[in-house]
Amino acid sequence: MPRKIVLDCDPGLDDAVAMLLAHGSPEIDLLAVTTIGGNQTLEKVTRNALSIATLAGITAPVAAGCARPLVQPVQVAGHVHGDSGLGGVTPPEPTLRLDPRHAVDVIVETVMAHPPGEVTLVPVGPLTNIALAVRREPRIVERVAEVVLMGGACHMGNQSAVAEFNIACDPEAADVVFSAGWPLTMVGLDLTYQARATDEVFARIGEIGGPVGEFVLGMLGFYRDAYRRNRGLDSPPLHDPCAVAYVIDRAVMSTRRVPVAIELTGTLTRGMTVADFRFPPPEDCPTQVGVTLDAERLWDLVLDALARVASD
Ligand code: BDR
Ligand code: CA
Repeated sequence: MPRKIVLDCDPGLDDAVAMLLAHGSPEIDLLAVTTIGGNQTLEKVTRNALSIATLAGITAPVAAGCARPLVQPVQVAGHVHGDSGLGGVTPPEPTLRLDPRHAVDVIVETVMAHPPGEVTLVPVGPLTNIALAVRREPRIVERVAEVVLMGGACHMGNQSAVAEFNIACDPEAADVVFSAGWPLTMVGLDLTYQARATDEVFARIGEIGGPVGEFVLGMLGFYRDAYRRNRGLDSPPLHDPCAVAYVIDRAVMSTRRVPVAIELTGTLTRGMTVADFRFPPPEDCPTQVGVTLDAERLWDLVLDALARVASD
């Protein structure tokens, strides 16, 4: 049985690959794509999601969510994802129509319309939509199968020394999501920095060809340049597909159960995911973090999915 997911995202170059991975994997039933302002403004990431859906033949509803965080002002990541949010690539004109519902309603309605334990939420952007869905319909916490999110870091951050971008964009929302009590896997930077798009990965993507292959190659070329410029890295880490990959195949990463809390007040540490490794975790600890990636397995999943989407 394919795993039913709602992908909450801010495309975003790595978000775009996460969408294609979800769509191109028979192990996943993509029920809805919801958008959240993050890598670029809500307007831009929503248009991008519709364009990618058009390119890939995704027919699941795409619904727009929150344009800003719960408390703090908006911040975007144009230095990594470009002014459009999709690097230098011009995506096709969207033909898919935006679902008129708010993303928060789509998340709630989708979870509640399915039997308990069926729908997995996969947020790979700031957590505002997910937090508001919890507040709007608290019963989703009991009803989801689990939450597998890209965000956070146990050691080094990227938005600050210790905070990762998705969490730092809306720490209050992250606090709601991490303290809800549902089974939650944090696929953070410790894990995703092992998902490097090496020259070999680029070469494999280059072999796919066609509009989808060209699109991904163009996006990742921009992404690689941005990581070279901003971080001095030759092979950029592709964060968001790691969360989708874990839903597809548990063997793609090892995990460790650990309580995680969100720092809200620290002057230098706001938005940090504080993982407490001191003790054996309490038996009912609902949170775990990704530790070691099987990179070969990840890239096989991604490449196979891209090839399937390209040949459809
Ligand atoms: C996360 O931030 C965004 O820029 C990426 O899309 C990813 O979700 C990595 O910190
Ligand atoms: Ca993202």
